[in-house]
Amino acid sequence: MKVLVTGGAGFIGSHVVQNLVKSGHDPVVADNLCTGSLEFVEKDVPFYKVDITTPKIETVFAKERPDAVIHLAAQVDVAYSIQDPAGDARQNILGTIQLLANSQRFDVKKFIFSSSCAVYGKQDDVSIDETFPVNPLSYYGISKYSSEMYIKAFNSLHQLPYTILRYANVYGPRQSTKGEGGVISIFAQKVLQGIPPFIYGDGEQTRDFVFVKDVGEANVLSLNSGTNETFNIGCNTKTSINELYQSISKLSYKNIHPIYTQARSGDILHSRLNNSKAKSFLDWEPKYDLQSGLTETLNYYLNTNEKGSFGA
Ligand SMILES: NC(=O)c1ccc[n+]([C@@H]2O[C@H](COP(=O)([O-])OP(=O)(O)OC[C@H]3O[C@@H](n4cnc5c(N)ncnc54)[C@H](O)[C@@H]3O)[C@@H](O)[C@H]2O)c1
Repeated sequence: MKVLVTGGAGFIGSHVVQNLVKSGHDPVVADNLCTGSLEFVEKDVPFYKVDITTPKIETVFAKERPDAVIHLAAQVDVAYSIQDPAGDARQNILGTIQLLANSQRFDVKKFIFSSSCAVYGKQDDVSIDETFPVNPLSYYGISKYSSEMYIKAFNSLHQLPYTILRYANVYGPRQSTKGEGGVISIFAQKVLQGIPPFIYGDGEQTRDFVFVKDVGEANVLSLNSGTNETFNIGCNTKTSINELYQSISKLSYKNIHPIYTQARSGDILHSRLNNSKAKSFLDWEPKYDLQSGLTETLNYYLNTNEKGSFGA
C-alpha cells in the first residue's frame, strides 16, 4: 500500500516508516523538518520537505496518489501551546483540515491520526478506556480533540475512512528532550552526562509509558483494521516518575540524585490507558515492557555518544 506519512522525519513518524517498510508497504514522507531530521528517514523512501499547512502539500497528493495517510506532523509541545494557542491551532487543526481536504479530493482509503491522552484531562489513579469523558486541560489537548472532530465530520460528510490512535506517553530512540512525554529522553541524556535532572513535585505522579516501536506497529495494523474507531495506545501500566528514575539509574549503573522542584501547574497526577479495545479490534498488544524498552532507549543514547552499552 502507498502510504503518505506526515511527520515521517520525526521521532514516532520515523519508526512508523520503518514498520511500514518492514511490512512491505510503500511509504512516502512529508515533513517540514521543524523538529524532525532527514537522518531519521529510511534510505530510498521518497521525501518531500513541505509544510502541511501550505497549499504545496496538494502537489504531494497529486504526484504520489497515496492509498492511505498516516498523519503525525504536529506542534507537539504542550508548553508552547499555552504560550501561543493560535500557533498551535494553525499547525494542529488547520494542518489536519488541509490534509483531510486533500485526502477526500484524492480518494484516500484510510486516514490514520496520532491523537493523545491529553484529550482526556484529569484522571483518577485508574485506567481509563475510550469512553472516558474528554476534557483537555491544554490548548494542545484541545487542538488534538478538535482534529478528531474534523476527522469524524469528514467521515460522515464525505465517507473518508479513519482510525484515531490516542497515545499514552511514547518513548524510545530518537526522542528529543522537548515536546510530549520527553521525560525518559531527558532523564537518560542527563544521567549519561552526569547531570542531575529535575523532578517536578514529589515524583509520585504516574504515567503509562509505551515504546515507540509498539506505536509504529499500531499504525501499520490500522491500515487494514479498526476503521472509523478510536483507540487508546498504551500499556495499561502505571509507573511513577520516581520508579522511572530508579530504573534508569539502575540500568545505567549511575547513582546521581535528582533535584526535586515545584510541581508544574497544569500537570496531571495520573494517566493510564486501558488498551483492550486495540487488542480486540487491531490485534495490537505492546511487545515491550518498560525494562526492555528502556534498555533499547538507553543503548541508543549511549551509542549516539559512542560510550558503550547499558543494561544486562
Ligand atoms: N511523543 C509522545 O509521547 C506523543 C504522545 C501523544 C501523541 N503524540 C503525537 O504523535 C505525533 C508525532 O509526535 P513526535 O513525538 O514524534 O514529535 P516530533 O516533533 O518528533 O515529530 C513531529 C514531526 O512533524 C514535523 N512537523 C511539525 N509540524 C509540521 C508541519 N506544519 N508540516 C510538516 N511537518 C511538520 C516535524 O518536523 C517532525 O518531524 C504528533 O502528532 C504528536 O502530537 C506524541
